[in-house]
Amino acid sequence: MVSYKELGLVNTREMFRKAMEGKYAIAAFNFNNMEQMQAIIQAAVECQSPVILQVSSGARKYANQTLLRYMAQGAVEYAKELGCAIPVTLHLDHGDTFELCKSCIDMGFSSVMIDGSHHSSDENVELTRRVVEYAHQYDVTVEGELGVLAGVEDEVSAEHHTYTRPEEVEDFVSKTGVDSLAISIGTSHGANKFRPEQCTRNEEGILVPPPLRFDILEEIEKRIPGFPIVLHGSSSVPQDKVAIINQYGGALKDAIGIPEDQLRRAATSSVCKINIDSDGRLAMTAAVREVMATKPAEFDPRKYLGPARDSLKELYKHKLINVLGSAGKAL
Ligand code: G3H
Ligand code: 13P
Ligand code: ZN
Repeated sequence: MVSYKELGLVNTREMFRKAMEGKYAIAAFNFNNMEQMQAIIQAAVECQSPVILQVSSGARKYANQTLLRYMAQGAVEYAKELGCAIPVTLHLDHGDTFELCKSCIDMGFSSVMIDGSHHSSDENVELTRRVVEYAHQYDVTVEGELGVLAGVEDEVSAEHHTYTRPEEVEDFVSKTGVDSLAISIGTSHGANKFRPEQCTRNEEGILVPPPLRFDILEEIEKRIPGFPIVLHGSSSVPQDKVAIINQYGGALKDAIGIPEDQLRRAATSSVCKINIDSDGRLAMTAAVREVMATKPAEFDPRKYLGPARDSLKELYKHKLINVLGSAGKAL
């Protein structure tokens, strides 16, 4: 058993309190390798932003949870070395069982998500409450979820949204004791969040997806004022990255994300945590494809992973400064 406190990590409680007060959101960037971790920390240090390093169960299987934990510990030291001891959280994304959450807590995670949103309401409450009871003994914070996002959630797929029902949130929060709540208001996972026929075209001919359901968010805020809300599925799917991928042999079709102005608006509300994974994947893939296509004689991984890391860092900085509004908030 190792406490996250010994690793220099923090839970999300203080981060979210300040984000709520300051009307910004904390970025939760998914990672599963060294270049992604470096890009996240470099961007967060340069922006002086608190940051959440997020690990899915798929990432844990891919990279090994012990290695990821030591990488997170290394990330804290790396940030100091780069000149700013930003607050860093190590968070389990979409935990689906008590055992997985317990294992992460015992291994040094400072925050876990228990995603019981695919179960019945009673089962979701029971499972979430059990994780909270265990986590709080070690001062680890817990994110629960109500409502189902369309798209693919880890190994669980949901064809359609089930928006969060505001009338259920008070009961869920009080019965479970969770520290934050992920809700469903129109975001979804992956790079294909909307079909083109769901979108309208603006004057420049760009596809604009239907807006997020801010009415549901406002209703939730009325019922649990000041309670930290989390948005999953918040990649914007930058079209310049999609174009580079397709220019260099990729085959991404109808890739459409959440417009950044919608996320900017969400960040000023009770939304304290915004999850971004797919945009990082697109930035890395675009950079790797470009090197592979334009420099076919290169075979040193650093020659393509280096540019991928630089591109990731620029993307993350843009998110922290212009979308989440967390730049300068680590001080
Ligand atoms: O919510 C899902 C995240 O984007 C993680 O995806 O399970 O492919 O690592 P993954
Ligand atoms: P995206 O697929 O939109 O990046 O969402 C990531 C996410 O919600 C991770 O939990
Ligand atoms: Zn998610």
